[in-house]
Amino acid sequence: MNSSIKISPSILSSDFSKLGEEVKALEKAGADYIHVDVMDGHFVPNLTIGPEVIKKIRPFSKKVFDVHLMISPVDQYIEKFAQAGSDIITFHPEATKSTEGTIKLIKTFNKKVGISLKPKSEINLVRDYLDQIDLVLIMSVEPGFGGQKFMPEVLPKLKELKKIIDKEKYNVDIEIDGGINFKNSKAAKEAGANILVSGSTVFNENGGDLKKILICFVKTNK
Ligand code: DX5
Ligand code: ZN
Repeated sequence: MNSSIKISPSILSSDFSKLGEEVKALEKAGADYIHVDVMDGHFVPNLTIGPEVIKKIRPFSKKVFDVHLMISPVDQYIEKFAQAGSDIITFHPEATKSTEGTIKLIKTFNKKVGISLKPKSEINLVRDYLDQIDLVLIMSVEPGFGGQKFMPEVLPKLKELKKIIDKEKYNVDIEIDGGINFKNSKAAKEAGANILVSGSTVFNENGGDLKKILICFVKTNK
């Protein structure tokens, strides 16, 4: 895989009746991370999986479990997601009373910390924490569902974030998540993203030939 761009396929668009096999197939096809979208029907109007499911799929892959918590309040579940086998735990600042507190809580379990910004959430929500976290997830759709249309209006925010990270030399990845396909992934990368999340494109294009799809993503981003 091209080292500068990492692909983190979202299992939200996979076949939930065989999640373990799907995770194994993604690893075999060359995924860098496995993106796990957790939704509680409260922070977002959809309900997906919880820590028990993550525990069950953990043995199917050694790849990084890139867990995106679209849940609130979030603090009371951090321990369970950490113990279930998450490697990166990403939360929304709107889902906690204290961003700093949630960062510290995730770190007590030796997990990497991500903060996710919804399309209308501003950079000031992460600006003061860039020296303490590992990843910023820029959402290019409203959180809640796969298969939505990419929102290019988030790219200026991504560019501004990248400028800050480069200027201050923070060691923070920028992940873009939502409606990413072969066409817009180039613009996302040029704006400064180094991790691409994709669900519906990975699972629905090319008749589901995962390997071909992941390689296409990387090729378009060489
Ligand atoms: C949306 C999720 C995204 C989404 C990506 O709330 O956070 O990860 O599932 O799926 P696609 O690529 O289908 O937009
Ligand atoms: Zn996600």
